[in-house]
Amino acid sequence: MSQSLLKPYPKLALKNRVVMAPMTRSRADNEQRKPVEMHALYYEQRASAGLIITEGSQVSKQAVGYIFTPGIHSKAQVEGWKNVTQRVHDKGGKIYIQLWHVGRISHPDFHNGELPLAPSAINPKAQSFTPNGFKDTVTPREMTKEDIKQTVADFKNAAANAMEAGFDGVEIHSSNGYLFHQFFSNCSNTRTDEYGGNTENKSRFFFEVLEAVKQVMPEDKIGVRFNPSLHGLFGITVDEETIPTFEYIIKRLNNYNLAYVHLSEPFTDVSNVPHAVTNIAEHFRPLYNGTLMINAGFTQESGNKVIADGLADLVAFGKPFISNPDLVERFQHNIPLTKWDNDTFYTQGEKGYTDYKKAELNKTN
Ligand SMILES: Cc1cc2nc3c(=O)[nH]c(=O)nc-3n(C[C@H](O)[C@H](O)[C@H](O)COP(=O)(O)O)c2cc1C
Repeated sequence: MSQSLLKPYPKLALKNRVVMAPMTRSRADNEQRKPVEMHALYYEQRASAGLIITEGSQVSKQAVGYIFTPGIHSKAQVEGWKNVTQRVHDKGGKIYIQLWHVGRISHPDFHNGELPLAPSAINPKAQSFTPNGFKDTVTPREMTKEDIKQTVADFKNAAANAMEAGFDGVEIHSSNGYLFHQFFSNCSNTRTDEYGGNTENKSRFFFEVLEAVKQVMPEDKIGVRFNPSLHGLFGITVDEETIPTFEYIIKRLNNYNLAYVHLSEPFTDVSNVPHAVTNIAEHFRPLYNGTLMINAGFTQESGNKVIADGLADLVAFGKPFISNPDLVERFQHNIPLTKWDNDTFYTQGEKGYTDYKKAELNKTN
């Protein structure tokens, strides 16, 4: 039986519709926070994906909030990424980098004692994974207009660096409770200037970044990511303005010729959360004319179905790719998947990173 996931996606020149979702793996445990040989091997092993999206990579020193995450703001980091993109390309793969700013999901330990930045001075009451272990987040500093301008410039610079490093595109991480999501949400944005209040204002910073990034790379190589029904995680709560805000943003993105819009189904059960949408693909597909990527909790079966049903063009798989570097081949041959080990998601070294084996193919597969 033909599988929708395995069909090429000519619009983005992808050999199949199986995308590796962005996943932080905390292996850049070097002074410069640069990708090293281990990163190149990890991504190369997964190059049969139609598209790889890298782990979130900070656009500036200020943007960081987790230990040992790589950046894309320094020369050394660009050089490290060049090796990664080259190795993926040599195996016939395609790779985008996820551009990340965590905003208030950070800690002064990362910033020489200075406060993390956010739209408003509201503590997310979450935890930050600091060099000194998990710590409670603090009340961040409200960004000035100058901070906003600088951050727009940081994203633009990071996108230019991504092009220099040989990436096929970038994904702006506007999801999961990080900086852009903090601007979109009333629980984290109480600004009274042109960056807060109504929907247009709450999304102004995001569109400013998009416009800036467009200046340094082709629009059709830019992806964006949203998690509209995120609730009770990373300090974000859904209210009556949340879904209309995402509807506004996603409809407005029809004016752009983006690579894709990447949406997540709810990370938790939101069936009893007032104003949340339980079926994201179904809700947002009719609003967006371009390429829609869907993620979170998909299997081979449900991934094939969501495409066949016309609710998405591409499916991003996260955890299955951690433990199955050959996920595409396993789908092709209906080979059972290897279970992932949660304990090594964020540890350092090769264990649980580059040591998952490909399946042995034999005649019966
Ligand atoms: C170890 C790990 C790290 C993650 N890091 C990121 C990240 O850096 N950026 C991001 O947008 N999502 C991140 N996510 C979320 C995944 O992209 C994805 O949304 C989630 O795993 C659900 O998809 P799945 O059910 O296919 O795993 C991470 C998830 C995991 C398990």
